[in-house]
Amino acid sequence: MSTLAGKHIVLGLSGGIAAFKSAELCRALVKEGVTVQVVMTEAAEHFMTAVTMQALSGRPVYTSQWDPREANNMAHINLSRESDAILVAPASADFMAKLLHGGADELLSLMCLARPIDKVPLIVAPAMNREMWNNPATQRNVAQLKADGIHVLDVGQGDQACGETGDGRMLEAEEILEDLEAFFTPKTLAGKSVLVTAGPTYEAIDPVRGITNLSSGKMGFAIARAARMAGAEVTLISGPVSLDTPRGVKRVNVRSAREMLQAVQANLPDQGVFVATAAVADWRPANSADQKIKKDGSGQTPELTFVENPDILATVTRSPAALKGDLFCVGFAAESHDLLAHATAKRLRKQVPLLVGNIGPATFGQDDNALLLVDALGARELPHASKQALAVELIADIARRVS
Ligand code: C5P
Repeated sequence: MSTLAGKHIVLGLSGGIAAFKSAELCRALVKEGVTVQVVMTEAAEHFMTAVTMQALSGRPVYTSQWDPREANNMAHINLSRESDAILVAPASADFMAKLLHGGADELLSLMCLARPIDKVPLIVAPAMNREMWNNPATQRNVAQLKADGIHVLDVGQGDQACGETGDGRMLEAEEILEDLEAFFTPKTLAGKSVLVTAGPTYEAIDPVRGITNLSSGKMGFAIARAARMAGAEVTLISGPVSLDTPRGVKRVNVRSAREMLQAVQANLPDQGVFVATAAVADWRPANSADQKIKKDGSGQTPELTFVENPDILATVTRSPAALKGDLFCVGFAAESHDLLAHATAKRLRKQVPLLVGNIGPATFGQDDNALLLVDALGARELPHASKQALAVELIADIARRVS
């Protein structure tokens, strides 16, 4: 279950072409189990209809402070009292300027002003032309809004509706969703640095062929995302996978086990936690050919011999920081059977305080998994759930161990 499930969010739309993304955002929030109450300014209604937002949120939309549907005719009070947060997306330059001055001449700004400031956080997702965004007036307003305790999300960069290119686009719906989830996540790893390896490695036979495995990287990416949401600085060393980088995570792409080891060693200083989820190839071809190995028609097959790859986790557990107890190492074991016995044995062999077992063939490429956490005291099962939900639980467990 997402940390957003069961939350009640007021989604405010001010006037901006990015309002089309708010429809997507509303849908995504509802899918996460959020109750979404939409409030729109008159300007927003030029870009998106209240009908669309009502259909997507499943609730009547509020557009006027004179709305007689509220028994006490105080929509500006009632709406925020029920909510866990107000999210204004898009937040136009004008709307942010209005927030800054405590303007209240229509329902959305009035409601923001009237919200219980300690109980109902206000989050804004700016959206505007790049010149408007870079204008000192806007930047001054953003700084002051932050100083006033308003959570101002980043802007995206790229092509704009006006035909110009630069900063100021509203973040995509899924990015806002991720930032919102992070906003509600307790910062149990604040001040910690976490290094994660993920995905398979690829060991070249020649320039066009290689050996790899079925790891999708999803578990490792979910762990990196969960650690980031818990407030950690996260570096993700990833083998070849086709996954988006979690927001706020530093990603380093590698291909082979040796490249992965190098990247891990380069990023190891000052890390507090190392989580080795990567399915590192145990062996690589002894001699990778510089040119494509050709089929010569004789029926002869090439002789492949292998050498063992370095064990990245073992290298890290033997590092001075790990030996001193400054670096907490977590290993993974993908087994096909007898999970408890194999994971227990592997924990001792790998000399890690925590080893996480899972059934490899059942989980590779899937969006869900089940984990077995094995430490010196015994084992704890995290039952079948989405990899993201499991990652959140695992990170909470790790945070308790390192705090
Ligand atoms: O020995 P085995 O591959 O089963 O161990 C799995 C654990 O060790 C995982 O955490 C994996 O990321 C790590 N590992 C590694 N380098 C290797 C092999 C495994 O870091 N060469």
